[in-house]
Amino acid sequence: MVNDQVASEPNVDAVVLVGGKGTRLRPLTLSAPKPMLPTAGLPFLQHLLARIGAAGIKHVVLGTSFKAEVFEEYFGDGSSMGLEIEYVTETEPLGTGGGIRNVLPKLRADNVIVFNGDVLGGTDLRAVLDTHRHTEADVTMHLVRVGDPRAFGCVPTDEDGRVTDFLEKTQDPPTDQINAGCYVFRREIIEKIPAGRPVSVEREVFPGLLAEGRRVFGHVDAAYWRDMGTPEDFVRGSADLVRGIAPSPALDGPRGESLVHPGAGIAPGAVLIGGTVVGRGAEIGAGARLDGAVVFDGAVIEAGATVERSIVGFGARIGPRALVRDAVIGDGADVGARCELLRGARVWPGVALPDGGVRFSTDV
Ligand code: GDD
Ligand code: MG
Repeated sequence: MVNDQVASEPNVDAVVLVGGKGTRLRPLTLSAPKPMLPTAGLPFLQHLLARIGAAGIKHVVLGTSFKAEVFEEYFGDGSSMGLEIEYVTETEPLGTGGGIRNVLPKLRADNVIVFNGDVLGGTDLRAVLDTHRHTEADVTMHLVRVGDPRAFGCVPTDEDGRVTDFLEKTQDPPTDQINAGCYVFRREIIEKIPAGRPVSVEREVFPGLLAEGRRVFGHVDAAYWRDMGTPEDFVRGSADLVRGIAPSPALDGPRGESLVHPGAGIAPGAVLIGGTVVGRGAEIGAGARLDGAVVFDGAVIEAGATVERSIVGFGARIGPRALVRDAVIGDGADVGARCELLRGARVWPGVALPDGGVRFSTDV
């Protein structure tokens, strides 16, 4: 859904980096690339593409590598979303900076807004572009504040908002301000990134630009922001979309405690709360309790089972009275009756756990 009220941005191209392997979301990312995992009923990337479109940007280039073909199969030329989408594939992953440099032949505009493909956000992209223009920056970075900056790029700025350092995943962050994974580049800066070899934008390009004294500015805001790269964040982000805490122009209609595909079957007495999503053809048994669960298409949750803050992969089955909490269940896995899978458990695709086969307690 593209907001017709917003003027177009003809002089801005968008690039989305979607070539990562998504290792922290394994085993789900063994079969699907992270940006294509279903999130509130849509591939995650669709929420980001809808935001790009709603900001008036039409031309989007996806930098793909791992499972590259899946993106084009789903989004095609982008016309159904009012976008013009092109694809550039790295046969060997070139890293974040190499991925940006690799799409250069497709770029047409003077300014290029680049996104990490796994960020769920509500930032006003027009405001980021405005900051880029009025600071006359070479690069403008969207920055957010987080509780623990160590898993991110830490980005201190001076009183004018000019970036003074870029410290990727430092154990000793000097500020809680981090790289939100969205940048506006002047196109000439992309032209200077070395071609044909892996380059990290975080570890090589940004420190290099700062050392050269280039104009790198931060755009800080307090909009919704979450990197969806871990199971905890994926589950939270999905629930926030369902409940309307996270915005997405790709979702219309009222939001509530759960989102159930019309082709799913929910038995009487099942409880679906906490931003639970149930995919197409999934079946939820009587008395099952789903709280913040992400149930992919075709999965089955049997009667009396409990699934909390967990992802249940395509066609997986959770047996009667099983308990799944803060866990990831791979596609087609079969969790037997009364099994207990708790914090951090990951069941690999197709693995079958016998009834009562994994327990954390001795009762029952
Ligand atoms: N095309 C391409 N090629 N894309 C890649 C490659 C590659 O070789 N490697 C990673 N990507 C994509 C991923 O698919 C993802 O969308 C994005 O680049 C960022 O990679 P992550 O692996 O998710 O990085 P991160 O979350 O550890 O850290 C990054 O994001 C943080 C914000 O979410 C960094 O940019 C941090 O500085 C930042 O704070
Ligand atoms: Mg990430």
